[in-house]
Amino acid sequence: MHLVSAAAFLLVLGLSSPVESGKCPRVCSCDSTKLSVTCVGKNLTEIPPTIDEITVKLDLRNNNLQVLSRRAFILMPYLTHLNLQRCNINKVKEGAFRALGRLVSLNLAYNKIDILYQESFDGLSSLKELHLDHNRVEEIQPGAFAQLGFLNMLALTHNQLVYIPNMAFQGLNNIKWLRLSHNSLNNLAPEAFAGLFTLSRLSLDHNELQFFPTEAMTRLPEVTRLDMSHNPITYLGEESVSMAKLTRLYLDHMSIQDLSDLALSRAPFLSHLDLSHNQLRYLEPLSGPKELASLNLTGNPVYCNCYMRPLREWAGVGGVKLLGTCTGPPHLSDEPLQAVVPLDLRCRSRGEMLKDEFEKDDEEDTGSLPPTAKPKQKVKCPDNCDCDIESQHATCEGRGHTKVPRGFPAKTQLLDLRSNHFHYLPTNSFPGTSQVVSLHLEFCKIHQIESGAFRGMKKLFYLYLSDNDLTSLDPGAFAGAPELTYLHLEGNRLVQFPGSALALLPSLFVLHLEQNAISKLEPTGLLSSATPNLRELYLTNNTINAIAKGALDSAFLGTLHLDSNQLTEMPTHALSDAPNLEEIKLSQNSIRWVGPNAFKPISQSLKRLYMDQMGMEKMSRDALAGLGPGLRALTVRGNQLEELPDLSPLTGLEVVDLQDNPLMCDCPLLPLRRWMENVSLEVIATCGNPPEIRGQKVRDVHVFTSCPESGSAPDEKVATPSGPPKVKKTKTSLSKTPGVKARPAKPKAKLLKPTKKKPQRKPGPPKTTKNKTL
Ligand SMILES: *[C@@H]1O[C@H](CO)[C@@H](O)[C@H](O)[C@H]1NC(C)=O
Ligand SMILES: *[C@@H]1O[C@H](CO)[C@@H](O)[C@H](O)[C@H]1NC(C)=O
Ligand SMILES: *[C@@H]1O[C@H](CO)[C@@H](O)[C@H](O)[C@H]1NC(C)=O
Ligand SMILES: *[C@@H]1O[C@H](CO)[C@@H](O)[C@H](O)[C@H]1NC(C)=O
Repeated sequence: MHLVSAAAFLLVLGLSSPVESGKCPRVCSCDSTKLSVTCVGKNLTEIPPTIDEITVKLDLRNNNLQVLSRRAFILMPYLTHLNLQRCNINKVKEGAFRALGRLVSLNLAYNKIDILYQESFDGLSSLKELHLDHNRVEEIQPGAFAQLGFLNMLALTHNQLVYIPNMAFQGLNNIKWLRLSHNSLNNLAPEAFAGLFTLSRLSLDHNELQFFPTEAMTRLPEVTRLDMSHNPITYLGEESVSMAKLTRLYLDHMSIQDLSDLALSRAPFLSHLDLSHNQLRYLEPLSGPKELASLNLTGNPVYCNCYMRPLREWAGVGGVKLLGTCTGPPHLSDEPLQAVVPLDLRCRSRGEMLKDEFEKDDEEDTGSLPPTAKPKQKVKCPDNCDCDIESQHATCEGRGHTKVPRGFPAKTQLLDLRSNHFHYLPTNSFPGTSQVVSLHLEFCKIHQIESGAFRGMKKLFYLYLSDNDLTSLDPGAFAGAPELTYLHLEGNRLVQFPGSALALLPSLFVLHLEQNAISKLEPTGLLSSATPNLRELYLTNNTINAIAKGALDSAFLGTLHLDSNQLTEMPTHALSDAPNLEEIKLSQNSIRWVGPNAFKPISQSLKRLYMDQMGMEKMSRDALAGLGPGLRALTVRGNQLEELPDLSPLTGLEVVDLQDNPLMCDCPLLPLRRWMENVSLEVIATCGNPPEIRGQKVRDVHVFTSCPESGSAPDEKVATPSGPPKVKKTKTSLSKTPGVKARPAKPKAKLLKPTKKKPQRKPGPPKTTKNKTL
């Protein structure tokens, strides 16, 4: 509105009194029809005082103004465009632009401004574009932009911002695009972007962010495009990206080695995801985005084996276009991902793969590469190792080293030493590797790690010590590597939870301890105080038979795998110390009975519960008490269950597996049968009894037609199948049975073959304790 009336006014003015040439400052050139004044590159140290007040465009590029004082433009109230690029400006005083209520575009790029004061931009009530790029801004004071209610685009690229405080952009009520690229941002306050309700595009590329700023991003309800390229982010965990309208996400040229399949589960409308030029070797199918059209994996070391198959299949089914190529195995090397058929994605034995790698090396050594291939750069690298400067990787995999080689390039980020014969890692085994992010030491026959072995590895984030011979860990084993976040210790022979060694790892997020010989979890493990950030703990295939109360004490733990152990009862008491558990695996223990309220302590957080093959004979009717719509997955496959608790409160189930249980197909099972008919899930459950219908699907049998209609079963004792009713009494189908019928005191009919307590031969595995040889 301002603009329209200003233009009309100026038009009248222009017609009735043409601009006198005398009003044009000597060093400037003036265009009286366009009402523009240009004074470019004149070494001006102040704004010429004689500029005509009806000027609408003023171009003062390349001068030497240094300070913009208060009310510097007070005599030019009709300005709509003001260009102050490269004017050596280091300070914009509060109120400098007061009176410029019609200004639409202000260009302050390429100056030396370091602080944006609270009232620097006061008065610019019509401004739509503000260019502050290529300055030295390191501080934004609260309220700096508070008066820019019409601004659409703010460019702050190429400055020196390290941190964005809470509410920094408050007042930008119409902002569409905020450009913060090319700063040194490593931290965003949780409310950094609060109030930006109209922002649709945010550029944060070329900064120093090490983690995806999940919380700050949740304040941006309308953002559809987010550019985070060129930040040193190494992983994206579950639900990292929680942005309801996001369609385009650029995560290219980062250092991502690991991306949770649930990382984008809260970005339902994502259509384009660019993950090019990261360090991903494989990727799992992504949950969440239903409309993903393209996934760019160009420039990742994607290894096209069986781990890639789920992604390839998922992309095929969902119509997701995959960009990028395989880096191996040799026969698929350089093959576009889109062209590989799932059946070609296979895994072979490790030996075969090693052989392939050696053959490839031989080829290179004998010079059989095409002449156009780039000659290998000559770099500093230990004997019998390969160092690639460009990718910052060094490898000495499987070269028979007996001591850790020394002298890697200082910038090495990934160091692969697996399959050597180190046996023992003395103190200070890795000098000069302070930039290493990922260290592979699998299959190195290591049985001892001396205190301080990893000293100086300040950036170590991933450490792979899997498949060694460790029986214990020195409390100082990880001293000097405080950033360690992912630790792999699976496939060793640890007999105790290495609590004291972990106490030096405050950032530990994921801990793998599968296939060790840990038999007890004790409170001395001190999870919470030592590793406050531990989120995932994998203890599959140990010999755990007891979990003391307090052993799992961790407010943050979300995933706990205890499958393939020797537990004989539910660790309910210990679960109460981990109130945020989302996933628990208890499969393949020997827990025959699950009592009431077994998951009560974690009922608010639990999403996935796995209890397969435990020889479970009975679940209390209240075993799942407290669990509700939050539970997404439940499996009890391969047990000895004849009945199941009521599953109808579990309205959020996406996965349910009840197979291979000898269910007693009889009236007490009626609620289950009803529930199965009611849910949209494919639920397979088979009858184990009575014998004449053994093996038939619960869905298909007719035994329920004669059951009393009432939903609530008789009480638990009576419900224990002591006498199921006669079958085929009437032909009435379930749905037609009238809703109200008097409930009999107890099921009256007798079983056709009334003898039964336990079927003699049951399907399913033997229910004895497993043998373990570790
Ligand atoms: C601008 O002024 C400075 C001194 O104030 C002088 O050194 C420089 O040469 C001048 N540049 C131009 C292009 O006139
Ligand atoms: C995929 O990534 C590469 C490398 O960053 C880029 O050149 C290419 O344009 C991207 N393709 C698409 C369709 O985004
Ligand atoms: C448990 O680990 C042993 C080796 O330590 C392995 O042979 C066995 O297959 C594993 N069992 C399961 C169920 O993973
Ligand atoms: C079937 O679904 C309806 C609505 O979804 C629900 O009200 C009812 O309780 C369900 N019945 C059973 C047996 O789960």
